[in-house]
Amino acid sequence: MALITFKINGKQYEADGRYSPEVSLNDYIRTEVSLNGTKAMCHEGGCGACIVSVQASLPPSNEVKTFAVNSCLVSILSCHGWEITTVEGIGNKIIGYHEIQSRLAKFNGTQCGYCTPGWVMNFYSLYMSKNGNLTAEEIENSFSGNICRCTGYRAIADAFKSFASNSGQSVNKKLKDIEDLAIFNTCGVKCKENCHHKKINHNANDNFKDNEWCILNKDDNETRVLKSQRYMWSKVYSLKQAFKAMKQCDNYKLIAGNTGQGVYHVKSYPDNVIDIFNIAELKGHTQDVNLILGAGTTLTDMVEIFLRLSAENEDFAYLKEFYDHVDLVAHIPVKNIGTIGGNLYLKYLNNEFQSDLFVLFETVGAMVTIAASVNDNKIMTLLDFLNYDMRQKIILNIVLPPLPSYCSVKTYKIMPRSQNSHAAVNAGFFFKFQKNSRILDNITMVFGGISSQFTHAIQTETILKEKDPFTDEVLQRALKTLYDEMIVEAAPTEPSQTYRKLLAVSLFYKSILHLCPDDKLNPRNKSGAEIIKRVISQGTQMYETDKTVWPLNQPIPKLEALLQCSGEAVFANDLTKQNDEVYGAFVTADVSPGSIIKKCDAIDALKEPGVIAFYSAKDIPGENTFTPEQIPLTADREEILCSKTVKFNGQPVGIIVANNQKLANRVAKLVKVEYESINTNKPLLTISDVLKSSEREKRVKTFKIIESTETGKDVKCIIYGEINMGSQYHYYMETQTCVTVPNEDGMDVYAGTQWLDATNIAVANCLNIPVNRVNVIVRRVGGGYGGKITRSLHVACAAAIVSHLLNKTCRFVLSLQDNMKIIGKRAPTYCNFEVGVNKQGEIQYLKNKYYQDLGCAENEVVAGITLGHIGSCYTTKRWTIEAYTVHTDTPSTTWCRAPGSMEGIVMTEYIMEKIAYTLKKDPIEVRLINMKKDDNPLPDLINQLKTDADFHSRELIVQQFNKENRWRKRGLKLMPMTYELFYIGPYNALVSIYHADGTVSVTHGAVEMGQGVNTKVAQVCAHVLGIGLDKITIKPTNSFTSPNCMATGASVGSECVSYAAMKACEILLERLKPFRDELDEPEWKDLIRKAHYSGVDLQASYMYSTNEPVKPYDIYGVVALEVEIDCLTGNHEVKRVDLLEDTGRSLSPEIDVAQIEGAFVMGLGYWTSEKLIYDKNTGELLTTRTWNYKPPGIKDIPADFRIYFRRNSSNTCGVLQSKATGEPALCLAAVITHAFREAISSARLEAGYPEQWVDIEYPCTIENLYMAVGHKLEHFKLK
Ligand SMILES: Cc1cc2nc3c(=O)[nH]c(=O)nc-3n(C[C@H](O)[C@H](O)[C@H](O)COP(=O)(O)OP(=O)(O)OC[C@H]3O[C@@H](n4cnc5c(N)ncnc54)[C@H](O)[C@@H]3O)c2cc1C
Ligand code: FES
Ligand code: FES
Repeated sequence: MALITFKINGKQYEADGRYSPEVSLNDYIRTEVSLNGTKAMCHEGGCGACIVSVQASLPPSNEVKTFAVNSCLVSILSCHGWEITTVEGIGNKIIGYHEIQSRLAKFNGTQCGYCTPGWVMNFYSLYMSKNGNLTAEEIENSFSGNICRCTGYRAIADAFKSFASNSGQSVNKKLKDIEDLAIFNTCGVKCKENCHHKKINHNANDNFKDNEWCILNKDDNETRVLKSQRYMWSKVYSLKQAFKAMKQCDNYKLIAGNTGQGVYHVKSYPDNVIDIFNIAELKGHTQDVNLILGAGTTLTDMVEIFLRLSAENEDFAYLKEFYDHVDLVAHIPVKNIGTIGGNLYLKYLNNEFQSDLFVLFETVGAMVTIAASVNDNKIMTLLDFLNYDMRQKIILNIVLPPLPSYCSVKTYKIMPRSQNSHAAVNAGFFFKFQKNSRILDNITMVFGGISSQFTHAIQTETILKEKDPFTDEVLQRALKTLYDEMIVEAAPTEPSQTYRKLLAVSLFYKSILHLCPDDKLNPRNKSGAEIIKRVISQGTQMYETDKTVWPLNQPIPKLEALLQCSGEAVFANDLTKQNDEVYGAFVTADVSPGSIIKKCDAIDALKEPGVIAFYSAKDIPGENTFTPEQIPLTADREEILCSKTVKFNGQPVGIIVANNQKLANRVAKLVKVEYESINTNKPLLTISDVLKSSEREKRVKTFKIIESTETGKDVKCIIYGEINMGSQYHYYMETQTCVTVPNEDGMDVYAGTQWLDATNIAVANCLNIPVNRVNVIVRRVGGGYGGKITRSLHVACAAAIVSHLLNKTCRFVLSLQDNMKIIGKRAPTYCNFEVGVNKQGEIQYLKNKYYQDLGCAENEVVAGITLGHIGSCYTTKRWTIEAYTVHTDTPSTTWCRAPGSMEGIVMTEYIMEKIAYTLKKDPIEVRLINMKKDDNPLPDLINQLKTDADFHSRELIVQQFNKENRWRKRGLKLMPMTYELFYIGPYNALVSIYHADGTVSVTHGAVEMGQGVNTKVAQVCAHVLGIGLDKITIKPTNSFTSPNCMATGASVGSECVSYAAMKACEILLERLKPFRDELDEPEWKDLIRKAHYSGVDLQASYMYSTNEPVKPYDIYGVVALEVEIDCLTGNHEVKRVDLLEDTGRSLSPEIDVAQIEGAFVMGLGYWTSEKLIYDKNTGELLTTRTWNYKPPGIKDIPADFRIYFRRNSSNTCGVLQSKATGEPALCLAAVITHAFREAISSARLEAGYPEQWVDIEYPCTIENLYMAVGHKLEHFKLK
């Protein structure tokens, strides 16, 4: 039988018919080869965690190319002849690290590290493919496919840009500074000088010169057929072979790059799969009069052809416009294997697909050639193709016409974030003018994202013929016709019909502005002609460091950074595969909340080969809850598996167990959940639903009312308002994960949790075994942000139940879709307020009522935290605050980075802005007048930031800019914050010193999830013990050595365990003291040896508790942010951010910089692009994919991002004078809403609206910004 052969990291592998098309390269790498460095999260090409590098010789040239692919999208059977390199293959602790790995580590480009291997391999592929010749712009533009939730991207961008030919002074200086620090041996291998590791040659070609990489013979072009019991996979090399394979069966699927499954998931493959990726006749291009592009050409090859031809041939100059457009299509790893034919066929199968290629090609009247056999081709328009019978046919090529110079082409793609998103609306306009005239001979107007039927604006095209479009009269008629003829289809996860319709009209207006001769155009309108294009980003970080206390306060990279960059850092699901292990997936109740379950029928699921068991609530040996009463902060007992009444759509009701994760996920959908009754009432999904409902009394509870203690008498103005803040998905890159291993003792639980103690209790409780039989072990967590404090217990219990019942290792890794629908998120908050102020804006009284959404259970209530933060930096004596909690029919909401605190600060800052606006006062003055007067450094900090940010002169520039530009508007705002830090506990630390060499191991009760707790603890221990950092290692956290510890969260975990570690070290120093005195300045090693042989216990532990003399303290911050919006699309660019935060004397400045940047960018995501959409009738969450939920990407961060630590700061209350940094900066991100308002207000004024406070609906998505402007067709003018 033919085999698929390929290499991974130089070693040859063979795949035969045992592997179904469903087995991805990622599955193979991780489970068959046990290379766990490569991660996965979304399995749809949307996150980049799975990227690996491939070398292959591809037709038509058969030239060897290096390119990145998403290993989750590639079937292992597609890999014939490929040389695959994973992150372990380019460097590790045995062979030494690759310069890319070590540089990313040095620049602190890792936090939790889960996304890191994907970044490294994407850059590695790029670097190799370009022989290292890269510009900074090219580098920054190449990572749209990689998401990182932790870092805020700046550090990653700097690390990679340091390889650029034009890396710039600032990055070079940073690199030099870091290298001067020589903190760790970035080679990673301890060896003599001149060792070969340091000499790894990173010249792409040199590395592969002698490499016998190619397994596939050039003449190996016979059809390769792999048969299994169910599938037949045929790899074909010619059209003849393809047609032969197609003729042999009706039920087949062609596969080229197979990336289409990232857009439309393949539920199951047909019996016959025909891999056409290597058909030479489908590749490359030819040129007669037309340009003929093979349908098998990858998008990467296509854009190269576009760029070259557009420069070489005037008739194809328009291809530069296409090149720029396709830059925004998907991302590089998808484009590297995704083909033209695949894209067009996705459009064929799903007419509503916003295919960019279709729009581009149709705009210029391209034709498509369809082959029914080798000699039977038919050429047709793209519209005819959509209706053509494609059975037994192949798309052969696309034919692009030459265009004379008096034609113009302009295309647009408007997306919810800067890159890697499908279009909300895309459009292409082809203008053919009469020679030497402004009169249109012809115009083509093509749109995507409108409806499955609407492509051409035929009526508008018709009325514009033989007209001069550059007159206001003609333009208005055209805009009106266009508006009227467009029927926009509703699409639940897409922006509204109204927005898409108006946006499409605006894009046409934009194209006219773009082409309009200057004499016909008011120069102020010119600003609408182009879309926002982000300049390359830059960042500075200003902090002081006190060398006398180093390694404390020393800027160093994270201890585990190199291991993260090489994939050697281990996460829960990286536990090596055990024999006979099983995989679990939840069966969910996908019905309206309130429905009653009767039973589950798993017969069909259990029939599938590889399916092992099904469990429901009655199989749980102990109590059916993952929040038992022994766990603090949880009042409600949330069920592991719903036993009767469904609380929210998507609640787990059963567990299906199979021999692999994909199978388990797939067959979980085959289990039929039967219901006694299905609730037909509309679910109450939001606070406002509840407040308007008859169930208001039942669902709303008073949390606390704080009455004012004073009222001012000088009320000159009363202002009312309301604020509606939504939810946010945590977007940890490691979804909820747990691996449970039964052992002689009970069970080892490798959990991705922020709370070991709760995991311990919940697992023991649901298994009905003593707590000491459960060992919870956490090495690290792939991002938590609060979402893995109690929510992780759900999956841990489920895995433990399976392991317990089957006595087998169980892996339970939630798919992104399940994770998003099952797991609770940030608690939405709604408030309404009334504030009475005097002439200066000083508050005389304030009544603020706020409501916070608990979801379906009363666990993790954040209302109290909000109360603690709502005062921020202001005098609150005159404030009456009423806090309420609200039950909705959604998953129980949970802590999410700066939970409650952000909402509190945001409400107050909104009120300050509204006061200032209403009274026409400077918002900073209004804030200052209401600020606490005593012991408040904020006025000084505001002044400092104003100077650093050059705030005043930039305000004038913004005003001038807004005066000069009709369609681009800017806003520049400043916002202060006092973040009240409170302590939780307990947390322990255990420090052991080894007598043989004096090295030290530490373990502690906090969880490393990217916040750098291990590094901080090591710095503290090294400082207190007076030894080098290299002598210290941090061991995984487990529930034996760190029992009873609190969850790691609220920003204080690092501080508290640092405190415990400091105390444990002090105990040890005390024990060592007599020997130190006796030996007279001994070497550390000698001191330890002496103590050991004298019977000293060289291990000490200490438990931090809230009784310790560390006290809550305030963290001060000020931010200034400038934003620019394109009023005609709703897109924006954050031009500059200056953020000053009081970090005390930072334990580790670079780590704190990273925390601040990451938190701020996560906040920007919350306010701009992250939107959760539910089905209002069923309560189903509709945005459960990377395709429709959009956290910020690398090009969404501020173009100029400046971080300042407060100068000369210390902290008498906290630990070793430091302050926490994990969450406060997230609160400051709300400044963008104020800056948006300034920009939008300016646009509205120009549109003729009265001067009025504008509320932009949150999040400020492209749609909400655009709609806030209040466009009318008559606004779209030339003069
Ligand atoms: C993360 C991500 C983001 C994306 N973003 C965008 C975007 O912004 N804009 C956009 O337009 N697209 C986008 N895409 C779609 C992308 O362009 C397509 O996935 C890709 O072009 C498909 O090519 P493929 O070779 O991988 O097709 P495959 O997945 O191999 O095939 C897709 C379909 O086409 C059929 N097919 C393939 N080749 C032929 C042929 N020659 N003749 C007949 N049938 C054929 C297959 O049978 C299959 O049904 C995105 C995709 C992903 C994964
Ligand atoms: S797992 Fe492959 S891109 Fe997300
Ligand atoms: S470091 Fe990127 S997601 Fe955590």
